[in-house]
Amino acid sequence: MLLPRLGVNVDHVATVRQARHALYPDPVIAAGLCELAGASQITVHLREDRRHIQDRDLLLLRKTVQTKLNLEMAATPEMLRTAFEVRPDTVTLVPERRQEVTTEGGLDVIGQKDALKRFIAELVQADIHVALFVDPSVEQVQQSARVGAHAVELHTGRFCEASAIGRAAKEVRAEEHRRLVDAAKTAIKVKLACYAGHGIHYDNVADIASITEIEELNIGHSIIARAILVGIERAVREMAELAREARRAALLEKRT
Ligand code: PXP
Repeated sequence: MLLPRLGVNVDHVATVRQARHALYPDPVIAAGLCELAGASQITVHLREDRRHIQDRDLLLLRKTVQTKLNLEMAATPEMLRTAFEVRPDTVTLVPERRQEVTTEGGLDVIGQKDALKRFIAELVQADIHVALFVDPSVEQVQQSARVGAHAVELHTGRFCEASAIGRAAKEVRAEEHRRLVDAAKTAIKVKLACYAGHGIHYDNVADIASITEIEELNIGHSIIARAILVGIERAVREMAELAREARRAALLEKRT
């Protein structure tokens, strides 16, 4: 039975540290605790402006992470040098805008296909697994296979936003879910591994984990926010259990 892996994004541990330019809390220690609690992967986004994760964090995480290290980064020459130096297990390419609060949309793989193809080839040559963070669009997923990526991470932000705020009508939520399902099925069809992330919360993780094509979830803000109140091990464990429970139910339903 394929249960979804949980990648925990520890960026926001660093956000709290950087708010005071202090030495604590340390995302490296947080990552170890997440792994103890059952995380299958540690994810960090090294942003150009270094607003949360710092180069030092990434170097230490490479030495200490015992599961997998997933580096989210923009497709820039600086980040390519960093990836070669650090050699994360996975690089997830994301679009990045300086002013955004968080990553707002998926990569435009169609619009940047030539540049991305060259960039991905360099990472692949260095034996790094490459995922592209894309909106749940069949066309973007198909193009991701053509530019040589190994995987797509479907942007779940719009679906999650519709779920959380309730401002979108039920049909919008259903439509966003359908887009995720179609994109996930397309990924499998074009032989890409399928991951998902962004905005996933304890209340909506079941809807996403029940899409059986998705093999990995990357979740940050909701887990770290909950960790402040209940502790990081409990926060990770509860999320992992909800995801696995939903997947078990979805697989059982498929069988019957
Ligand atoms: N996946 C990607 C590609 C992201 O950019 C982010 C945000 O850094 C996440 C997952 C995690 O999103 P959230 O913090 O909303 O769970």
